[in-house]
Amino acid sequence: MGAVWQALCGRLGTKYPIMQDGMGPSPTTSLATAVSAAGGLGSVSTPGLLTPEAELRKKLRDRMEQVAVDAQGSFAVNIPVGTLSSGEMLPASEACIDEAIRVKLAGGPVGERFAAITTSAGFPGGFTERIKEAGLLHIHKVGSVRHAVKAAEAGVDVVIASGYEMGGHTHLRPVSTMVLAPQVIAEVDIPVIVSGGIHDGYGLAAMLAMGAAGIAMGTRFIATEEHEWHRNYKQYIVDSREWDDMTYQGYYAPSRGLRNKALLEDLPAVKATGIPVDELNQWKEDRGYLAQMEGDTEAGIVVAGQVAAAIKDIVPVRVLLERMMDQAIDLLENTSASLAALKATRA
Ligand SMILES: Cc1cc2nc3c(=O)[nH]c(=O)nc-3n(C[C@H](O)[C@H](O)[C@H](O)COP(=O)(O)O)c2cc1C
Repeated sequence: MGAVWQALCGRLGTKYPIMQDGMGPSPTTSLATAVSAAGGLGSVSTPGLLTPEAELRKKLRDRMEQVAVDAQGSFAVNIPVGTLSSGEMLPASEACIDEAIRVKLAGGPVGERFAAITTSAGFPGGFTERIKEAGLLHIHKVGSVRHAVKAAEAGVDVVIASGYEMGGHTHLRPVSTMVLAPQVIAEVDIPVIVSGGIHDGYGLAAMLAMGAAGIAMGTRFIATEEHEWHRNYKQYIVDSREWDDMTYQGYYAPSRGLRNKALLEDLPAVKATGIPVDELNQWKEDRGYLAQMEGDTEAGIVVAGQVAAAIKDIVPVRVLLERMMDQAIDLLENTSASLAALKATRA
């Protein structure tokens, strides 16, 4: 019998159990292409949900087409699911899921390589069946055991268990990866991908040994050569140290970024003006672009996870993936002495 992760790689069409998760609204198109070509699962990110619908659909389609043309492997599309105050799904999230399904059904090189939709934040209710009927896997990201169970019961194919230390929008109730992952793996019968705080082969080996079907990363993938974001952003991550991360109010939950002028001074000052919430959200989105695309890491918001402190270099994606695989293999091979000693204590 093969390992849990092999079965999932087979279904996704990837070589390695390593996923680059979505990091919208800025593009992750070149990054996703590089990750898919190197044997992982790259993810196209959704352009800002504040974008008008027709433009949003077009931008998403363009990003998918670009990855499909350039990539040699399969890819996923990440769609955050926002909700209106009435509790209904944000029309922009619905439009993105609908557009992604249309692209899959249209077939061709894009449809062939497009393997999965990853939803996050809210749960997209009745969409699971449509996603699966289109021939896609539905992956849903959760931050609690109860949400993992709910997603599995609703027919989701795979859950990503992501701990509170993750970069970007995190969860309202803080549960860290090491507490969350083993519980989710034990509770649900579907494959579990673990994310939040992973950056190397030791994290990969630990999660596979625990029974995970793979790992996903965001922050580590930012500091790679192929990623289209500004060099200053990547370097800010490499230069950051322990305790440099902080959370601030995001659109639907707390969001994690790195301490700088934008988060420590500008955001409180803008909030103090009593600016309406929609304008404040737009301000945060613009400040994210400023850092990510223009490289202003003081006036711009540097969204990243706690693991930024552990990241020491900017490397080509293929080097990162191969290094992680080497480390994971080394670590698992070297556990045999520990295993023998553990068994001896029981003899
Ligand atoms: C800059 C940035 C932007 C992100 N944007 C999104 C997003 O649009 N949708 C989403 O589901 N998750 C988003 N995330 C979270 C990642 O998909 C992933 O779950 C997280 O980065 C994993 O934790 P890590 O940063 O410790 O690797 C973002 C993360 C970062 C760092």
